[in-house]
Amino acid sequence: MFLSASKILLGAACLFFGAAQAQDDDCTAGPWSDVSYTGGGGGSRFCATKWKAGVVVTGVEVWSNDHNVRAVQFYYSDGTNSPQWGKIDGNKHARLDWDPSVDGISQIKSWGNGKGQYLGRVYIRTVKGAELDVGKNTNGQNTFETNVASGIMLGAFGQSGDSIDSLGFLFLKSKIEKITVDDVVFNETPEDLNARMEGLQTVILDYADHTNDNTAATEVFTFGKTDTKSTTKTFSNTATRSFGWSTAIQISGKILELGASSTTTLNYDYSQASTEESSTTNSVTLTYTVATTLGPGQRTFCRATAMSGTYKGDYTSTVNIWLEDGSTFGFSQEGTMEQVNWSKASSVCQDNEFPPEKRAMKFIS
Ligand SMILES: *[C@@H]1O[C@H](CO)[C@@H](O)[C@H](O)[C@H]1NC(C)=O
Repeated sequence: MFLSASKILLGAACLFFGAAQAQDDDCTAGPWSDVSYTGGGGGSRFCATKWKAGVVVTGVEVWSNDHNVRAVQFYYSDGTNSPQWGKIDGNKHARLDWDPSVDGISQIKSWGNGKGQYLGRVYIRTVKGAELDVGKNTNGQNTFETNVASGIMLGAFGQSGDSIDSLGFLFLKSKIEKITVDDVVFNETPEDLNARMEGLQTVILDYADHTNDNTAATEVFTFGKTDTKSTTKTFSNTATRSFGWSTAIQISGKILELGASSTTTLNYDYSQASTEESSTTNSVTLTYTVATTLGPGQRTFCRATAMSGTYKGDYTSTVNIWLEDGSTFGFSQEGTMEQVNWSKASSVCQDNEFPPEKRAMKFIS
């Protein structure tokens, strides 16, 4: 370990920081492989990762003088940052942030200080081409390349005192094959939501006040229309953004659903299906028609209504990430579901005017 600015593979586990630093932390074991670090053996261990909570690294900040890297700090997808390790000093400094939903790391190169003591320089490039390059002049020194695998940075580790003695990065070892959100449990029950009529309202789609103006003839008045409304159901969770996953995910568990209890009313229930897609958009066609025969001078009042439902609620779940190499890992995470649905329409015509609208009614034209 003290030989030179060295790249030591974790495969030789007994070499990993030696016995003195054997204490486990969250950087010790995880869904990474082929881990290396660059630098010397002094300083005390640091570990920057939140991978067990499904949080990835989205930013790196480095300070250096002409001799070696003096300080490092890391930023996470949950908006937090790691402590700063080392001591800020020197005339070289840069910070690189990337959006993990659309970018990742394509290359990391690092150098020692040429004497096997400290980290000398770091170079990081993202897939989109943003770069960080901070450190001493490393002409003539060996360059050590990190295997960035999936390009998803889960953490960083090393040793530090007043300088950064060594630094290594932890990358998700394989590309993601799929993400599933399992064991979904909503914070609210269908019973509570139905009792409160949460987000449910009767909507007046159309209204008519018609009089047969003929003095002698009857008239058939037809009240009817076809209306199209969109319905959506969307589950969101931050893991898909953090892990750059844009394809639909599958959801399973006690999935709350706002659906039709009869043709013209909506209510909450648990889904009969055990698995759903993370996002569905559809449309419903609301059709109503009623024909009334009116005598001379007769007046009629018609109204068409439907129930609309809008729900936004939180759930707890276990997010499982399935890797192309056949392994998986999971973590618990909260998410939000948003749903809009409609019942079928109904219509009625009558001789008397409708009573003033109840509070739950809303006019949509
Ligand atoms: C709306 O409710 C219907 C009837 O229960 C259901 O089949 C459909 O999946 C729901 N639509 C959405 C987008 O949730």
